Amino acid sequence: MSALFDKHATEIEKILSKYPPDRKQSAVLPLLYIAQTEYGYCTPDVIREVADIAGVEPTEVDAVVGFYTLFFDHPVGKHVVQVCNDLPCALRGSEPFLDHACQKLGVDKHQAEHGGATTADGNFTLESVVCLGACDKAPMMQIDLEYFERLTPDEFDRLIEEYRKK
Ligand code: FES
Repeated sequence: MSALFDKHATEIEKILSKYPPDRKQSAVLPLLYIAQTEYGYCTPDVIREVADIAGVEPTEVDAVVGFYTLFFDHPVGKHVVQVCNDLPCALRGSEPFLDHACQKLGVDKHQAEHGGATTADGNFTLESVVCLGACDKAPMMQIDLEYFERLTPDEFDRLIEEYRKK
């Protein structure tokens, strides 16, 4: 069927078996998770592969990738650091916190605010994102799948050094 299916047949069959044949589109999210873990990010070819498996149009899968901040349509670093800079977080100091994050990681803030900025060593991609649902705990960020809240610059630096070793 596809390289992704061939490599992860058991896992994919298990996911597809959870949905009736006419509702396979519901499998797009878990299929994208497998695809991104396999390929690193979601290229148009990856999107087509997932669409074929789920029996939907590639544009539908593309829309899912575009909607969720944890799916990437471009290469990213080993760890993705997402700093919320939406209005409630901005009112609680996320802007200077983001400045500090850019300085610590040595990346360009404009890039971080427009699709993400990756460190020269490829270890981190920093991006500012909209609400992550922890508005009362700003400054906050997500590294990969983990949330960190009520952060200080020192705590950011400590976490970066911790993730650098992972
Ligand atoms: S506005 Fe930042 S988490 Fe909601």
